[in-house]
Amino acid sequence: MRNSLSRRSFIKVGAVGAAAGLVPGAAWSKKDAARTVELTAGLAKLALPGVSTKPSSVWAYNGSVPGPALRVRQGERLDVRLTNALPEPTSIHWHGLRVPNDQDGVPFVTQKPVASGATHRYSFVAEDTGTFLYHPHINSVAQVGRGLFGALIVEERTPVPVDRDILWAVNDWQVALGVVVEEFDNPHDRSHAGRYGNRVAVNGRAAPTLTGRPNERLRLRLLNAATGRILALRLEGLKPWLVALDGQPVKPRPAGADDLLIGPGMRADLVVDLPDARGQRFRVIDQYDDRDVYTLGEIAVGDAKPVRAQPLGPPLAMAANPLPVPDLARAERREVIFGGGAMGGMMGMGPMNRMSMARRGLFWAVNGRFDAKPDAGSKMEPLYTLARGRSYVFALENRTVFDHPIHLHGHTFRIVSRNGRRLADGPWRDSVMLRPRERVEIAFVADNPGDWMFHCHILSHQMAGMMSVVRVA
Ligand code: C2O
Ligand code: CU
Repeated sequence: MRNSLSRRSFIKVGAVGAAAGLVPGAAWSKKDAARTVELTAGLAKLALPGVSTKPSSVWAYNGSVPGPALRVRQGERLDVRLTNALPEPTSIHWHGLRVPNDQDGVPFVTQKPVASGATHRYSFVAEDTGTFLYHPHINSVAQVGRGLFGALIVEERTPVPVDRDILWAVNDWQVALGVVVEEFDNPHDRSHAGRYGNRVAVNGRAAPTLTGRPNERLRLRLLNAATGRILALRLEGLKPWLVALDGQPVKPRPAGADDLLIGPGMRADLVVDLPDARGQRFRVIDQYDDRDVYTLGEIAVGDAKPVRAQPLGPPLAMAANPLPVPDLARAERREVIFGGGAMGGMMGMGPMNRMSMARRGLFWAVNGRFDAKPDAGSKMEPLYTLARGRSYVFALENRTVFDHPIHLHGHTFRIVSRNGRRLADGPWRDSVMLRPRERVEIAFVADNPGDWMFHCHILSHQMAGMMSVVRVA
């Protein structure tokens, strides 16, 4: 088994530019384009530098956590052969990619679970560019929590020119006595803020330093693969540009605090210009919990000579993805109310209901319903059935006292309002953060037929009832 100590602490996902210039978009043709990848989900013993002092038992794709960063080009077909070497069934979901329903990787909804010892083939064309992720969609809090996740990067035809393209895939671990604790699920985590580890890792190691050169331009792809931890990041002393959210390009602008509120499953792509200041170090801090602000990692300017004499101007905008634009004037409206949870959120439910939910490990409701998790093999009745090709506005309301990053499969939506305030130019996303008591409207064209999961990406919440299915027929 591969030891993560031998892995570079930063997964370099792009070509290194020539000393003077930036990397231009490589020309490529669509014809020759298909990529085949073998992924084996199995048990591994890994050293997690700075996280655990002894090698820990984890679950890993191809023996590493994170799993290999998969790269394809827009329009290319990705063929994945998954081998399940785990002691239980699994699957792979391609989070954020608009794939055909039968490739979406949701056991009992879009496919049969991949049994222990079995193989399964996924094949789809990457329609959209950006930073995405892959992970199992069964017994999720344990399977993802044990280490099954990886990035999927779809390259732009004309990427934003940078000197280096860097991925920071973040997760956390519960560590005791120097090893990862193999407990992932309990009623407290399910009913409160989800499972939080006590050690945070970036690309498998704690608080790494990314060293660059004076005046170097980096693309930093931030990906939150934790099961419950929400990140609220700040790059101290740097002025990062936001260039994409959940993979979808945004017109470059200085990254704000809201952009860097990154819930489980969410991504933010930044362009970071290092100053001409040799030896300087900048902390990337997570201040989500103001009583526990910590350093996620550091960005340092090394002793090398500057990449260029002058700092660069604002980065160029990337081309938008070919997303169907919802017709807001004619869109049909649907309400989705998220309720439940500890601290009073279950009060409206009646004591009998509350008790029977808790007995089944269910603490959250969507529109007053708490569907049994599809892991159990039960069919989920759709929350809504949408007419294929029609535009919809989903009015989401968080009637709980917790944050919920709500994720829709198979579609990319636009955020059109927050707490009654219209957003003229709201971002395209596959997940939206709902703060306590917030109301957010999202809009999309229901153009991808099938049954699609619509759930909270705090995986303890997902497994405890904050999960539903939307049918496009
Ligand atoms: Cu990233 Cu339904 O999942
Ligand atoms: Cu939630």
